[in-house]
Amino acid sequence: MPRLNKTVILTLLIASSSVFLVFQLYYYRHYISEHGIYTSINKYRQVENDVQLQVVKKFLGLVSRYNLPVFLIDTSTLANLSQHPANSKEHHSGQSVCRFLCTYREFTTFAVFAKFWKYDTSFAQAALDHGLELLEVRGKDPRLMGLDSLSGTTILLHLLFSSKSHCIHLVLFYERSGNYLWHGPLRLKAGADAKFVPFQKLEFGRQSGAFDRPELTLTSVDGLDVWIPKNISQFLQEYTQARFLECRYREARTFYQLYPDDTSLEAMDFRMKAKSLLSLVAQTLTGLGIPFWLSSGTCLGWFRQCSLISYSKDVDLGIWIKDYKPDIISAFQMTGLPLKHKFGKVEDSLELSFQGLDVKVDLFFFYEEGDIVWNGGTQAKSGKKFKYVFPRFSLCWTELMELKVRVPCETLDYIEANYGQNWNIPVKSWDWKSSPANVEENGVWPVREWREVIQDCSRTALGLLVMC
Ligand SMILES: *[C@@H]1O[C@H](CO)[C@@H](O)[C@H](O)[C@H]1NC(C)=O
Ligand SMILES: *[C@@H]1O[C@H](CO)[C@@H](O)[C@H](O)[C@H]1NC(C)=O
Repeated sequence: MPRLNKTVILTLLIASSSVFLVFQLYYYRHYISEHGIYTSINKYRQVENDVQLQVVKKFLGLVSRYNLPVFLIDTSTLANLSQHPANSKEHHSGQSVCRFLCTYREFTTFAVFAKFWKYDTSFAQAALDHGLELLEVRGKDPRLMGLDSLSGTTILLHLLFSSKSHCIHLVLFYERSGNYLWHGPLRLKAGADAKFVPFQKLEFGRQSGAFDRPELTLTSVDGLDVWIPKNISQFLQEYTQARFLECRYREARTFYQLYPDDTSLEAMDFRMKAKSLLSLVAQTLTGLGIPFWLSSGTCLGWFRQCSLISYSKDVDLGIWIKDYKPDIISAFQMTGLPLKHKFGKVEDSLELSFQGLDVKVDLFFFYEEGDIVWNGGTQAKSGKKFKYVFPRFSLCWTELMELKVRVPCETLDYIEANYGQNWNIPVKSWDWKSSPANVEENGVWPVREWREVIQDCSRTALGLLVMC
């Protein structure tokens, strides 16, 4: 009798068990679609799980063939990884368990730096060979849009790889001039996504987003080698507030046609100084972990003209009072920005002003109260208090003068509250006590508090000697 070779037996065994597995898979699908019920949720989930892991494997196989350095940004998997580090994975009889990648969601999200993406006509076919149907989503390149040109060329924004039951969403991250990463929104012509996961379900792409460049690390997740952000909690934190707003270049151009830009040396000089001041202040506040947004005239300049209003002469920023830290003043002083004045106190109407080179920066602290927020103003010579009331808003990223900064997402509401319906018409004579649409008188500081709440370092208030 011919000696049955061990390898042959093994091969036969594997083959028959694979056939059995395929049969099982088929059976479950068939059963479920026939009867529309689940015999056992757990068994069904197991199958669904296996499918998810298989699709991720296929995708990783495909991208490694094309040397595409993708990294995992799926928030569900990352959240689990941060709680149970992947390296502490248990091995069950040599089989890796799908603990992290099997999220019971219809999609798994990866990212790639756009500069590594090289389009190759063979790619879509190779994807198909891996059982993945490819869908490309394109959009305008915002980096080429600006006041000079609105003709942004089209770039690839998202790739969707769809198998029958699972979708891999690959997000392209572009580098932008403020040294940050940007991804575009995911929009399709009606019906084009029929075969794919409904787009509203995907977690990246409902709107564009901005991220700091994450440091990546290679780790083993469910037995697969995957790059992930090294500081997962930082990435997840950024994800919750990543929404990005593009400047309204088209409207800004129309504005400049009506009101030509001031190109005098003085105006250029102001913009240059204001830009470096803003950059310095942004660094300082970010270093302190204090989020801020463009407020008042600086916000109006961004919204209306994608620039700074040259005759405004200062930079205005908003900060939540809950983010106030006493070391702001010393931190600013250390970067060469001395305190110019401090009005109000932490409990009420706080406002700090620092003197840069010819340009000052005002930090307005915002108080939350029911469905409104407000910041205060103080008139040094009279001790009169003012209040500026805004509807509540959330914060979005944007870019101003090649800097990544925040603005209220509901920018129009914010601007209209502050400047009224005619915000689109430049006003050069502006009185902070009476011009704003949302200013309210708010009483007078008691004289005994003046020493604390009116600290004007550039002059003395009503003969009071003030220490700064
Ligand atoms: C994540 O963790 C939870 C609880 O530890 C677990 O039930 C779940 O299966 C894990 N996996 C995923 C991918 O959500
Ligand atoms: C990760 O980021 C968080 C928040 O940004 C930070 O507090 C923490 O120190 C970082 N962890 C490491 C290990 O760098």
